[in-house]
Amino acid sequence: MTQNRSVLELRRRFPSDFIWGAATSAFQIEGAARADGKALSIWDEFCRQPGAIADGSNGDIACDHYHRLETDLDLIAGLGVNAYRFSISWPRVQPLGSGPANEAGLAFYERLVDGLLKRNIQPYATLYHWDLPIELQQRHEGWLSRDTALRFAEYAQIVTRRLGDRMASIATHNEPWVTAILGHEQGIFAPGIRNRRVAYQVAHHVLLSHGLAMQAIRQTGTKADVGIVLNMSPISPATDSELDAFHARLEDGKLVRWYTDAVLKGEYPSDMLEHLGADAPVVQSGDAALISQPIDFLGINYYHPTVSSSANPTSPVSSSTAAVTHMGWEVAPQSLAALLLRLKRDYKLPPIFITENGAAYEDHVVDGRIDDELRRAYIESHIAAVADVIRQGVDMKGYFVWSLMDNFEWAQGYGKRFGIIHVDYATQKRTVKKSGQWYSALLHAQPQPD
Ligand code: NOJ
Repeated sequence: MTQNRSVLELRRRFPSDFIWGAATSAFQIEGAARADGKALSIWDEFCRQPGAIADGSNGDIACDHYHRLETDLDLIAGLGVNAYRFSISWPRVQPLGSGPANEAGLAFYERLVDGLLKRNIQPYATLYHWDLPIELQQRHEGWLSRDTALRFAEYAQIVTRRLGDRMASIATHNEPWVTAILGHEQGIFAPGIRNRRVAYQVAHHVLLSHGLAMQAIRQTGTKADVGIVLNMSPISPATDSELDAFHARLEDGKLVRWYTDAVLKGEYPSDMLEHLGADAPVVQSGDAALISQPIDFLGINYYHPTVSSSANPTSPVSSSTAAVTHMGWEVAPQSLAALLLRLKRDYKLPPIFITENGAAYEDHVVDGRIDDELRRAYIESHIAAVADVIRQGVDMKGYFVWSLMDNFEWAQGYGKRFGIIHVDYATQKRTVKKSGQWYSALLHAQPQPD
């Protein structure tokens, strides 16, 4: 087979044991919202609020992955990935968020995990990708209640007892900042609350639940690596004014350091505590140690840089001429490299995975093909940035493209497509896009040793 030179050269820059994957999450692809004993989640409820979702859609069917598991597994295998990152739906596995497990739910994830292993693909599971069982929100105050952290640890143990012998990796949470801030301060994600004090108490309980779940998972004796996935964006000041520098630093505290300092240093940043004042969370003694116990890996989701000024505290674009994706996010692979180097400088890091990276663009199906050159170029340039930082000594273990296939993009509904596989929602037909073919070529490339 003739191998494309640029693909071969890029692939050569990675160690042979590097993990190459694609990522999804349960609510965004599974559908089957009420199937086989599954209870609803806060996202099912949120989608029903008028105006909450841009196109008025919901996750009832999504990519119907729940019913198309086997053929989707074949598609995943066809790409040539050696890992697949998915999330487990808490209300599918433990419908009430406490008490008995739902056997049919566990059986689904068992089929998924076994199906991956059969195809030589390592299962990378995430336990919480935002779909809290509705019961916990409606009757128990959701993440505002400290009890939810205890319940999460119980759920983590249910999953790990069943599947921990076969999973390669378990992440407790996906993007706790989103759960806390978009869900409880900005109110644009489920459960749609707008209250800063609540948001930071939630942030603390989510981090606490990470620590409790780490313990619960390890108690089962699983050999899987256990860690957490954080969303990050390097934040730079719009001008060199002192005021803009101050705002950029504060925004970095809200988005990055709140989580990285807690998990990697066992403390909340002092400038953030000062900034929050009476809205700072109630923390019990022992919480910091739980939250900062050693993790086997840190997952980073990176999409775009952020520019901050006093007038506009967070903008995902630096200038009117910057190239942006369909989300309005600036394309800046060098910012991914800068972010990773900054983390290496400021923290003692565990092994790092890019657990999500990718781009939404408006796709056009022409003669059954999707020529998404912009998405392909985005992915290539970001993978090259990862290669750059490996050379500079960052311990990078893997890269997962977001996403395996087009899916429900939360408050944006189905209008924003991130997939390297196209989904025709009317027919559920999947078509590998040009970006997917390119990624697959990269994964199949076999550089000869020098
Ligand atoms: C991060 C989230 O984890 C994922 O669910 C989402 O679809 C992507 N960002 C794109 O916005």
